[in-house]
Amino acid sequence: MSSKDTYILGIESSCDETAAAVVKNGREVLSNVISSQIAIHTLYGGVVPEIASRKHIEKINQVVTEALKQAGMKITDCDAIGVTYGPGLIGPLLIGVSFAKGLSYASGVPLVGVHHIEGHISANYIENHELEPPFLCLVVSGGHTHLVRVKDYGEYEILGRTQDDAAGEAFDKVARAIGLGYPGGPKIDKVSKEGNPDAIHFPRAHVGDSEYDFSFSGLKSSVLNYLNSLEMKHEQYVQADVAASFQKAVVDVLVGNSVHAIEKFHADKFALAGGVASNSALREAMQKACEERGVKFYRPAPILCTDNAAMIGSAAYYDFKKGIRAGLDLNAVANLKLGERAY
Ligand code: KG4
Ligand code: ZN
Repeated sequence: MSSKDTYILGIESSCDETAAAVVKNGREVLSNVISSQIAIHTLYGGVVPEIASRKHIEKINQVVTEALKQAGMKITDCDAIGVTYGPGLIGPLLIGVSFAKGLSYASGVPLVGVHHIEGHISANYIENHELEPPFLCLVVSGGHTHLVRVKDYGEYEILGRTQDDAAGEAFDKVARAIGLGYPGGPKIDKVSKEGNPDAIHFPRAHVGDSEYDFSFSGLKSSVLNYLNSLEMKHEQYVQADVAASFQKAVVDVLVGNSVHAIEKFHADKFALAGGVASNSALREAMQKACEERGVKFYRPAPILCTDNAAMIGSAAYYDFKKGIRAGLDLNAVANLKLGERAY
């Protein structure tokens, strides 16, 4: 361990994954431990916040201990603890924040509060050591759909956002409607490979205050109407065709707005982030759109797209280097805005 290297313990608990990781110099992952609650929430068709909080309490100590062990480190070998403090489910967030504060107090290791979406964006730094701001980033997760200009580390301009459902939310709702269950995104991705994306034409909505805004609730309703109309005629729908046609409509809108921003801002680098960034059709379409325009394309490995703590350790590193420290009065903020610091 060299004294000029910086080691961050990242902790993430904003939704249904309890995660901890040790990251060196913001870019090198020494450990990345994720305890997923998917199996239990699947029973209810979605995340139940109270159950999520209880599971985080049960797991967090084990997960953090394992992350330090796999990295071959003690907590006092770390330069900082980075913890997600928003946005997310308030109960789950509070477990991570309280645990991190206790650990910081007991060990004397400084604390940095991390914005969850900033974490998703920072996942791109991990495998792409040459990637530096400025770049454009499409953040697509279960709770967020943002087209962002990353101007510098920690400096963001939101160009467009969803006016209603997040992209991941639309995947989850449509998956439920066609009997695929929770979590919908990966299941739609898989079954779409057997379907015809041009079988059904679902609408591509471009609405909102900004030319870069998104809307997915009309698309979701259109899928539900399609299913209902067939049911009334006692006809069967082809699950793979509905999935593939829906996925294509989502991807078309995401790529369309992204290309618009790339051209308007003459961007030369573009990154995907968030759980939906692991979608194979989106990755393929966005890569092609970037290649056609000579734009360098980045996306995290699938394991770093969905919730994890390595991305939190990476984001915390850049704040830590700027001298940003959270006090023991750090609180969880369920609706924290990107670019806002609540401590
Ligand atoms: O980023 P994430 O793990 O959690 C949030 O911060 O929300 O994103 C989870 C979302 C879920 O809606 C899930 O269905 C979606 O990402 N997702 C996918 C895929 N993998 C995960 N959506 C489409 N295709 C995938 N392969
Ligand atoms: Zn997330």
